Amino acid sequence: MQALRHDSSGQVGMPVIDIHNHFFPESWPDLSARYGTPDWPSIKHTEAGKAEIMVGDRFFRHIYSACWDPEVRLQEMDRDGVDLQVMSATPVLFAYERPIEHALDCARLFNDAALELCSRGKGRLKSLCQVPLQDIDAACKELSRCVRAGHLGVQIGNHVANKNLDDPGIVTFLHHCADEGAAVLVHPWEMFGQERMAKYMMPWTVGMPAETQLSVVALILSGAFDRLPRTLRICFAHGGGSFAFLLGRLENAWHHHPVAHGESQHPPSYYLNRFYTDSAVFDQRTLQFLVETMGADRVMLGSDYPFPLGEERVGSLVRRSNLSKDLKAKLLGGNAVRFLARRSEDAQVPEAAGNRAGVIATSPPSGSEPGQLTYSSYLKVPELLELQSPQSLPPHHDEMLFILVHQTYELWFKELLHDLDAVVGNLQKAGQAPQSRDEVYEAARLLRRCTEITRVLVEQFTILETMLPTHFLAFRGLLEPASGFQSEQFREIEFLCGLKDEKMLRYHRPTPEAYASLKRRLEEPSLRDVFFGALQAMGKLAPGKATETERDRFEARARAVHALYKDEQHHRDWIDVCERLTEFDELVVSWRLRHIQLVERIIGIRMGTGGSTGASYLKLTLDKKFFPELWEARTLLTE
Ligand code: HEM
Repeated sequence: MQALRHDSSGQVGMPVIDIHNHFFPESWPDLSARYGTPDWPSIKHTEAGKAEIMVGDRFFRHIYSACWDPEVRLQEMDRDGVDLQVMSATPVLFAYERPIEHALDCARLFNDAALELCSRGKGRLKSLCQVPLQDIDAACKELSRCVRAGHLGVQIGNHVANKNLDDPGIVTFLHHCADEGAAVLVHPWEMFGQERMAKYMMPWTVGMPAETQLSVVALILSGAFDRLPRTLRICFAHGGGSFAFLLGRLENAWHHHPVAHGESQHPPSYYLNRFYTDSAVFDQRTLQFLVETMGADRVMLGSDYPFPLGEERVGSLVRRSNLSKDLKAKLLGGNAVRFLARRSEDAQVPEAAGNRAGVIATSPPSGSEPGQLTYSSYLKVPELLELQSPQSLPPHHDEMLFILVHQTYELWFKELLHDLDAVVGNLQKAGQAPQSRDEVYEAARLLRRCTEITRVLVEQFTILETMLPTHFLAFRGLLEPASGFQSEQFREIEFLCGLKDEKMLRYHRPTPEAYASLKRRLEEPSLRDVFFGALQAMGKLAPGKATETERDRFEARARAVHALYKDEQHHRDWIDVCERLTEFDELVVSWRLRHIQLVERIIGIRMGTGGSTGASYLKLTLDKKFFPELWEARTLLTE
């Protein structure tokens, strides 16, 4: 989006875009007569500018002219400082339980009505279509038709009868949305447990948030996000329901119970950057928490306007929050620009209308469409370059190098953990399906990447050695008590590979999240455990007996590896894994050695900022091995 706008506070900012609001046309045909079946929604005008929505003979909701009159909408948008509304119909019109011909006809009727409303909206009204989701082919076709006709995406219900969003057909539909560049808004409807929620509007206040949470969880744990393209832009209404608040519970279950993993490759929190939520939470602390949980780029203004439970002054929750100016701009419009961006020409905010202030055009990067993903937005380069905060004042020239080198190490540690976790998954599967060689091949391939990364990490110390000891000493005092002991990811790598030392947790007490994730790593099976578990599942290693000592177990494992090498012809792939693991172990020792050399070169035999004896302590770590049985097997081979 290239248009910069003045928001209602008078500040120059992004356009203000409301992505969750609803419309009803002023009238529509009698659907019960049209399809010959009862209980279709109808509109009953009661007095000027007011109407009731009926479902069959049953009263459903009071509405007013903003639902069908663009003039009223535009006036209220001006009052609230909203530049663009992306309207959708309401779930009561979904008709997912009806015969497909009726549901498709109904969808077309309201989709075309939406475009007609938009055509009178002076370019400030856009729409999401609806589709007959009970029939995936028909839903895909209607989506494609609508996108070509001018809809920016689709609003779908969060389930179709008993099918959650992880239903293979619905996942196919979401894939189609990604292919078509259509944004998806998921709206809860037909809440479960109605018989226990008859009173107090509980279906809206209790049922809807739970329905939405269920949908997000279904998409994550079914592994749908692992299979769906990253280009899918999907948003969950009402702040994502109860999802953010209960993420910790979900995460805890995932880490403690294999059954809670479902098919997901990663813990639930890993997928937070795969979806958006709107901001319709009606409480400052909740909004703050939602933004902290989902991240600043993942929450968008959504109001539920003009329904009674909607935000009365659209955008006021965000505007009155304590969030920074930049964050507010993201929530009020910046994030929606990305959410809607694929069809950038459609998502353009129009020139200022009525009393809206003027537009200042900014140039998109040359060669790219406005609103399109750029190198910088994809890689978050501006954010990355903001992450260095030297402590010395005036900044010592070499402190920047010191920070950047450490940050680079941490980024590579992140990739190592990412790959090693995948290797654990591969070896677990290899143990379960010994006939399939794919998983063993994949494990060896990723381990090769880990060794190459570690080789680079060994080399990188030379860059830091261009810093004179005196230059380091000029700012070293400012770093205490920060120390390499507190590198959570380094310790995670150790724990994950099998070197588990509970005592090291004490360095992470100041950071409870790091402490908790290391504790989890301590409890989870390590790469070493999983490797030998696979050999055991394949019958290459006898199950341990209760009477066995640690030493017996160690020797049995070493002999199992020895046997693999002795029968090379049949175990080439497993030998490859062994070689890669050994090489990785070897390179980590090289890393330890080069680190010690660096430490001696920079601070001699001085104590470390973490309170250890420095180089002499670090030398004790040189004997540490992740996979000692692989080394022992080599001794056995020479016997
Ligand atoms: C001027 C450069 C450096 C010096 C003087 C230095 C010094 C030390 C010292 C003395 C220790 C022992 C713990 C303590 O008492 O603080 C240590 C540990 C550690 N350092 Fe460094 N370090 C440097 C650079 C780096 C770099 C670039 C990394 C990259 C991530 C790093 C990662 C670590 C890690 C992970 C540990 C814990 C090792 C273990 O427990 O086995 N250090 N460092």
